Amino acid sequence: MRIPVIAGNWKLFKTIHESVALVQELAPLVANSTGVEIVVAPVFTALSRVADAVKGSEIKLAAQDCYWEEEGAFTGEVAPKLLKDAGCSHVIIGHSERRQYFGETDITVNRKVKAAIAAGLSAIVCVGESLMERESEQTFSVIEAQIQGSLAGLTEADFAHVVIAYEPVWAIGTGKTASDAQAQEVHVFIRSLIGRLFSQSVADALRILYGGSVKPDNVKGLMSQPDIDGALVGGASLKAESFAAIAAFNG
Ligand code: 13P
Repeated sequence: MRIPVIAGNWKLFKTIHESVALVQELAPLVANSTGVEIVVAPVFTALSRVADAVKGSEIKLAAQDCYWEEEGAFTGEVAPKLLKDAGCSHVIIGHSERRQYFGETDITVNRKVKAAIAAGLSAIVCVGESLMERESEQTFSVIEAQIQGSLAGLTEADFAHVVIAYEPVWAIGTGKTASDAQAQEVHVFIRSLIGRLFSQSVADALRILYGGSVKPDNVKGLMSQPDIDGALVGGASLKAESFAAIAAFNG
């Protein structure tokens, strides 16, 4: 009943031309994929051109961040309604790289999530522990604080527009994937926490994606776990062939 989501986070890679070329190559490869939602997240400057290129295809468009205000004197920021205007249906919020390098906190993530939903976007909300936190057995307390802070004040109805991505920081870009069991354990924890904080029906319907070195050869094992509902893919989403192979995990 939870439709899986395979999302590609292109991070700070690719020009407009390269981004359009990548989705043009990807579209026919995923044309027959059924029962899976496919999302790509190019850089801001490529969004509207990629939106034109994916029209009529299975591919949905996400931005990698947004601001929480609609407009105003906020030099350099991009409002959720402008992402919608550019053709986005989704926005990634609170990626660990934003938390680590750009001062993102659960408070700013929470504001952004609310603003994104209010603008009619779906928020892909990222959480995840660092290696040090895992090694000192703080994984669950860190995830709990991130979930509680990032999703504070959301209504049950808001959750129709929320996807969570669990991305252990130590697995991002390192080639070290969490084992299927390690990922499943945290996904179960997140789902039961959502059940306690919101409701069981919200928890049951919520898609929880895994991210961190997802590749064509490990996606099947991860996706066979009952609480893993998709993947947020970095490196392997930059090539049409490998991203399409990941999207075809059930083939
Ligand atoms: P990698 O797949 O390159 O490890 O990146 C994961 C990620 O950060 C997706 O948001």
